[in-house]
Amino acid sequence: MKKVTVVGAGSVGATCADVLAKKNFLNEVVLVDIKEGFAEGKALDIWESSAVNYFDTRVKGYTNDYSKTEGSDVVVITSGLPRKPGMSRDDLISTNAKIVKSVTDNVIAASPDAIIIIVSNPLDVMTYAAHMASGKSAHQVFGMAGVLDTARYRAFIADELNISPMDIQALLMGGHGDTMVPLPRYTTVAGIPVTELIAKERLDEIVVRTQKGGGEIVNLLGTSAWYAPGASAAQMVESIIQDQNHIFPCCVRLNGEWGLKDVYLGAPVKLGRNGIEQIIEIDLNKEEKELLYTSAHHVKDVMDVYDKMKLD
Ligand code: 2OP
Repeated sequence: MKKVTVVGAGSVGATCADVLAKKNFLNEVVLVDIKEGFAEGKALDIWESSAVNYFDTRVKGYTNDYSKTEGSDVVVITSGLPRKPGMSRDDLISTNAKIVKSVTDNVIAASPDAIIIIVSNPLDVMTYAAHMASGKSAHQVFGMAGVLDTARYRAFIADELNISPMDIQALLMGGHGDTMVPLPRYTTVAGIPVTELIAKERLDEIVVRTQKGGGEIVNLLGTSAWYAPGASAAQMVESIIQDQNHIFPCCVRLNGEWGLKDVYLGAPVKLGRNGIEQIIEIDLNKEEKELLYTSAHHVKDVMDVYDKMKLD
C-alpha cells in the first residue's frame, strides 16, 4: 500500500495530486485543505478523470481531517498564501510560517514515519520551520525548489537551441529566490557542455531569467505558478517511493558541506526510499562559491526573522 498526502488543495497541491495520480504508481493520494469542501471537490474531479486518463490510484479529499492521512509514506506540504505581483517570496513569512508549522504538527501526529517535502514559500525557511517542528532527521524533511528552477532553466535552454528539454541536464544550487545559483559549468546538452553551444552573454541572460522565473509567472498571472511546481514535487515523490535514486537539486539542511552549516539551501542530492540518501558535494570554483555564500547569507537572514517569531 503506497499512500501520499498532499496538504493544500490549491493549484499547486491539486496539480501535484493530479500528476501523481496520472503516474499511476500509488494506491492512494489524499488531498487535505482547510477550506470546507475544497479538497473533496478537487479530489473528486481528479478521480473522475481516471477512466479517460488511464489510472486507478484512488484520489480522496478531506477538510482538515488528518486522521485520513494516517500511514502516508510521503507528505507534500503546499499550504500557505501564494505571492502577488510586487511581493517577494520572503514577504510571505509571517503568514506561512504559522500555517506550515501547524500543518507539520498534524502531519507528524498521523504519519510519524512519513518523508515530508515542503513546497510552501519562502521555501528554504519553510523547510527549516517544518524540519524543526517535525523532530525528524534532515534527510526526511526537505524542500522542492531546485527541480522547478532547473526545469525552468532547461525549458529556456531548449527554446534557445530548439532542442528537446529532455536532452538537457542541469544543476542549480542555493536558495529559491533571486540569489539562486545556476551552474552553467554543470549544464550539458546530450553530453555537450552548454557553454560550447550558447555564448556567455546569452547564457547570462538565461540565468537571470531563471532566477526571476517565479516572478515572471506572477507578473503574467497575478499569482504564482502551479503546473511546473506541482509536477516538480510529484517527480520528487516518485523518486522516493520508487526508490529511483535520481539526483535532484533539493533544499536541505547543510551540515558542513561547502563550509556551510545549519542553513537550508538547494544542493544536489540522491533521492531514494529513505529520502535524501546522499548530499553530493560537487566541486565549486571561487566565483560559484561566492554566489552560494551570498545566497546562504540571504536565507540565514530570513531564518533569523523566523526565529524572532518565536512560534512554539
Ligand atoms: C515559483 O517559483 C511558486 O515559488 C514558486 O513559482
